[in-house]
Amino acid sequence: MKQTGAALGLAVEWLKNCKSLFVLTGAGVSKESGIPTFRDALEGLWANYNPEQLATPEGFRKNPSLVWQWYDSRRQKVKDVVPNPGHFALAELQKMVPEFFLCTQNVDGLHIRAGSSDVVEIHGSISRFKCFDNGHVQTEVPYDLKDPPLCECGSLVRPDVVWFNEPMPEKLLKQSFTAAEKADVALVVGTSGLVYPAASLPFHAKQSGAKIIEVNPNRTELTDSCDLFLAGPSGEVLPQLVEGLK
Ligand code: APR
Repeated sequence: MKQTGAALGLAVEWLKNCKSLFVLTGAGVSKESGIPTFRDALEGLWANYNPEQLATPEGFRKNPSLVWQWYDSRRQKVKDVVPNPGHFALAELQKMVPEFFLCTQNVDGLHIRAGSSDVVEIHGSISRFKCFDNGHVQTEVPYDLKDPPLCECGSLVRPDVVWFNEPMPEKLLKQSFTAAEKADVALVVGTSGLVYPAASLPFHAKQSGAKIIEVNPNRTELTDSCDLFLAGPSGEVLPQLVEGLK
């Protein structure tokens, strides 16, 4: 495993020759925007709750108002922050390689706000809503509601995120696996690699012949399987990669 200086040069080289780039991002890419990870956000008022209560269909059925208020607080947080240089670098990178696919596990919408297009939000989005029973899409959902509003069909409205114990959107998953398979380089940014099936995407890319570059200040479950590990925060490392490509 090479260290950042030499590794960075090699990563730039691979990206220069790359025809199809697959990018997987996780909570780490939004860290420098001040978005706490799901678990980090379980503090203060929320310290006594766990993911089963706040982010499962069962939790919502049991206490819809609690789950609604939790997501409202997360949504407010996201509204008040801005994308960081890591998000912007990925938006720039998209224009520098012939084929680019960005799959994010984040629900904060910051890649889109930074200018990335065709982002696959595999765990959904905190800014979109659907009804619990029938998946009817909802628009114009106000902040600060204490209880979930009702859909026209009578069902409660919920955030359009993928909760624990729920399947991933099949179409998006399929698109992501196809893109990973096609890629000659995969860039894995700010994810612990613990949550499947998203975490299997880099392995899939590798099995299909892609070189894997990981950007993370810490080693992860994925690090040993990567071809290059760029140690550092994505808000610093990704802009350096983009600079190297200019
Ligand atoms: N730049 C890049 N990576 C960073 C930074 C940073 N500035 N700071 C922290 N990280 C890394 C951490 O080292 C860690 O490996 O980001 C990773 C965050 O890991 P998780 O919190 O587990 O986030 P993620 O991998 O996205 O989690 C996957 O789990 O909580 C559920 O559904 C939720 O989508 C989420 C999924």
